[in-house]
Amino acid sequence: MLDLKVKKAVAAGAAGVVIVNDREGDMRGGLTGPQARVPVVGVRKQDGDLRGYAEIVASTMSERRVTRNLIVQTPQGRTDEVIMVGAHLDSVQEGPGINDNGSGSAAVLELALRMRQFQPDRAVRFVWWGAEELGLLGSKHYVESLSQQERENIGLYLNLDMIASPNSIYGIFDGDDSDRVGEGPGPRGSDEIERTFQAFYDSRGLPHTGVDFTGRSDYGPFIMAGIPAGGVFTGADAQKTAEQAAQFGGIPDKPLDPCYHLACDTIKNIHLVALDVNADAIAHAVAAYAFWDR
Ligand code: PHE
Ligand code: ZN
Ligand code: ZN
Ligand code: ZN
Repeated sequence: MLDLKVKKAVAAGAAGVVIVNDREGDMRGGLTGPQARVPVVGVRKQDGDLRGYAEIVASTMSERRVTRNLIVQTPQGRTDEVIMVGAHLDSVQEGPGINDNGSGSAAVLELALRMRQFQPDRAVRFVWWGAEELGLLGSKHYVESLSQQERENIGLYLNLDMIASPNSIYGIFDGDDSDRVGEGPGPRGSDEIERTFQAFYDSRGLPHTGVDFTGRSDYGPFIMAGIPAGGVFTGADAQKTAEQAAQFGGIPDKPLDPCYHLACDTIKNIHLVALDVNADAIAHAVAAYAFWDR
């Protein structure tokens, strides 16, 4: 069953239309059960292979929406080595998404507000991504839409996705592992970002651990484009290991976020200390890179 509006758009060869949930599992869900109601959201810039997408739409789509990235930048600072910091603003439909990702979104907002008091030497660009949960649609669109010059003008990208998980660890994306992601070249500089976060937690006497770049958040498209990236992460559906419990406290053999993608991801699902520490961590990293005198 093909949505009539989509049919018309496809027939008209329209650009800027629609789509599409690119998670295979959902496509297989067909039109019965809860998956049939997964909204499919996205903006397609070119009309290239829209027909291929229309086939997918036919079996899964229940709704069309447009989604947006919100991007703001400091008026001061050189713009050829921009410091980017981002968090996805969407959540899954199953719940309110307060840890995933109200936590990261709030930290970016607080940082942006506080930055008004400072004149950075490098411009800082704050981004709230749309449609991360539907397959990194916002960040992919953004990176793909950059000219080569614009890409080269990004110094680095810092990602915040789930920074206050109840059964937290202090995870830092493992920069020297980043070349294992996909086929692309490993970005220069991700390792330095990792060390900057390590130094922050060390300065507070807090434990920390490396977490792999799995490609499952908005840093993925940056790494694939060769832009150095990093960030902090307190854990999703993985169980806390005995080793992690010894290092960080908390409850072993229980998920790092027991309400990951569930209705219980409410304001109660926030580790307030982790939120506070990680908001400072990101401020520390941005300050380290946005000002000449560190
Ligand atoms: N990006 C995932 C989400 O928003 C969270 C996640 C990140 C899970 C990294 C695992 C690893 O749901
Ligand atoms: Zn999520
Ligand atoms: Zn997330
Ligand atoms: Zn490392």
